[in-house]
Amino acid sequence: MTILTRLIAPTFAVVCLAGGVAAQSADPAVDAAIKARHAHMDLLAYNLGTLGGMAQDKIPYDATLASAAAANLAALSHMDWTSYWVAGSEAGMAEGSRALPAIWTGMEDFHAKQMAMATAADAMAAAAGTDLDALKAAMGPLGGACGDCHKTYRQPNN
Ligand code: HEC
Repeated sequence: MTILTRLIAPTFAVVCLAGGVAAQSADPAVDAAIKARHAHMDLLAYNLGTLGGMAQDKIPYDATLASAAAANLAALSHMDWTSYWVAGSEAGMAEGSRALPAIWTGMEDFHAKQMAMATAADAMAAAAGTDLDALKAAMGPLGGACGDCHKTYRQPNN
């Protein structure tokens, strides 16, 4: 990023945010669903961050902490999130949404990708408390399952 874009970017973000409030969806159910799925994803990311920090030797391995994060991930992965994807909440239709329209035309595959994450999270839950090597081995498939869905169904950040 050049110095110029670095200076411009924050100003641009402020303008977009200000515009965003006015452009918020008129349907409170749409806004609530977007909020809920973002919160869910943030919880996934928080717990994955704990495990990722250990896998990358950025935070010391702690079997209890690792087990708790992995159990949370497994529980979150298995939760039924079907109701989050309400019609009209796709990117371009609703403020703040990066959910691609392909979700709505490929709901079965979208669900399968969630289940793939749940399988990887279960494997992590079984491994995380064993030792750091086991945690590291389970990390690839789990992170891969997040990325696999984002690649197809989440609008890239731009
Ligand atoms: C089955 C698909 C799928 C899986 C699996 C998935 N995500 Fe997501 N994720 C999405 C979609 C779609 C969005 C965009 C939602 C939106 O903007 O409304 C998203 C958005 C996010 C966001 C941004 C949230 C925000 O506040 O804007 C984070 C962080 C995230 N995901 C983390 C993860 C992590 C970590 C995992 C794996 C442990 C994961 N996701 C697994 C589909 C998925």
